[in-house]
Amino acid sequence: MTPTLKTDIAERISRISVSSTMKVAAEADKLRREGVDVVDFGAGEPDFPTPDNIKQAAIRAIEQNYTKYTPAGGTAELKKAVCERHAADFGTSYKPSECVISVGGKHVLFNLTQAVVQDGDEVIIPVPFWVTYKDIVNYAGGKCVFVETQEENGFKLTADMIEKSLSPRTRMVIINSPSNPSGAVLDRAEFEKIFEMTSSRGIYLLTDECYCHFLYGSSPFSVASLPGAKDTVLVAGTVSKTYAMTGWRIGFGLTPESLASAMAKLQSHSTSNPTSIAQKAALEALSGPQDSVPVMLAEYRKRREFVVPRLRQIPGVTCNMPEGAFYAYPNISCALGRNGVNTTLDFAARLLKDASVAVVPGEAFGTDRHIRISYATSMKELAASPGGNPVRPAFVG
Ligand SMILES: Cc1ncc(COP(=O)(O)O)c(C=O)c1O
Repeated sequence: MTPTLKTDIAERISRISVSSTMKVAAEADKLRREGVDVVDFGAGEPDFPTPDNIKQAAIRAIEQNYTKYTPAGGTAELKKAVCERHAADFGTSYKPSECVISVGGKHVLFNLTQAVVQDGDEVIIPVPFWVTYKDIVNYAGGKCVFVETQEENGFKLTADMIEKSLSPRTRMVIINSPSNPSGAVLDRAEFEKIFEMTSSRGIYLLTDECYCHFLYGSSPFSVASLPGAKDTVLVAGTVSKTYAMTGWRIGFGLTPESLASAMAKLQSHSTSNPTSIAQKAALEALSGPQDSVPVMLAEYRKRREFVVPRLRQIPGVTCNMPEGAFYAYPNISCALGRNGVNTTLDFAARLLKDASVAVVPGEAFGTDRHIRISYATSMKELAASPGGNPVRPAFVG
C-alpha cells in the first residue's frame, strides 16, 4: 500500500500571519518593478547610507578573512562593546555574559520570547503595538493581553492601565518606547512605576529599545538602569535604526545570564552565529564615533515638522506630534465609510492604487482608524507625494 503523503503545514505556523509591513513593502516593490514611481512611506527604514567608518570596518573584516563561524551568541568583543555602549548611554552595568548577539532586533525578540513564554502564559502588549510582538507571542504558545491606549491622550501608557490587566498567568509585559507606530514616549515616572509593579511580582519587563536614540524632547532613558532591574528587565536592542544598518542584521539582548545562554543555545541550532562581517561592522558602530546619530535625528526632526502639519491641514484628519522614532500615525477615520473605503486596509490599498503612495494600515498595529507613515524616507520623497501632502490624494474623489 502506498503511504499517504503528509503535506499539511505544522499547526504552529498557522499561529502567525504575514507581517503587514513586509506585505506593503512587497506590493510597493511589485508596482515599482512594473515601472510605477511609488512614493514609499511603508518601510520603517532610514534612507541614510550606513556611515562610512562602519562600512570600512566590514571591508577590512573581509580583507582580513574574518569570514568564518564565530561563537553562536556573538563575539566576545562585540558583546563587550554592547555592554560598554549601553553603560555609556544609559548608566547600566551589564557584563558580556549577560549579552547575546542575534540576527537583528527581531531575532532577539523572537528568541527571547521562545525562551521565556510557555503555553498559556499571558503577555501584556500595549496598543498600538509593533506587528511582530503578537505573532511571536502566539508562536510561543502564549496569550496576548492587549492594553488600549487613547489617541486623545497621546497614546500614553500608564502603570494603572497595565495593573488592570495583570493576572496570575502574566509572564511578561512588553514596552516599546518610543513606540512604533505611534511615536509616543513613555514618561519616565510611569516606566519606573511599571518596573516596580512587574519586578515586585516577578514578571518580566521586556523593553524594546529599537528607537531609544531618536527622541525629540526627552533624554534617552533605559529602565534597565534602575536599581535591581537586571533580574526582571529584559533589553532588546538593535543597530538597525540607530546606525542606518537595517540590512546588516545585528541586534542584541541584555538579560540575566541564564536567559542569554538559553537564547544562544536556541540560536546555535537555528541561525548559528550572526554574520561575522556584520559583527565587525556593529563593533565599529557601537565603539567608534557616534556623530552620525545626532545628524540623522536632526533630519528626522525636520521631516516630522514637515509631515505632521501637512497631515493636520487635511480636514477631519488628526495627528499627534510623535515624540520619538520616525513615524506619524494620523487618524483618517473621516475618510472611512465612503467611496468604497471602509477600513484602513481599503484606505491603504486605494492610496497605493490611485496615487502610488505606500503606507501601512492601522489594523497591522491593532487600531482601526489610523495609518502609519514612515518619515525615515527622504525629504525628496515626502515632498514628491502628490500635492506635497502624503495622504491627501486618498481624500480626493
Ligand atoms: C519596534 C521595533 N522593534 C524591533 C525592530 C527590529 O529591528 P531589526 O530586526 O531590523 O533590528 C523593529 C523594526 O522595525 C521595530 O520597529
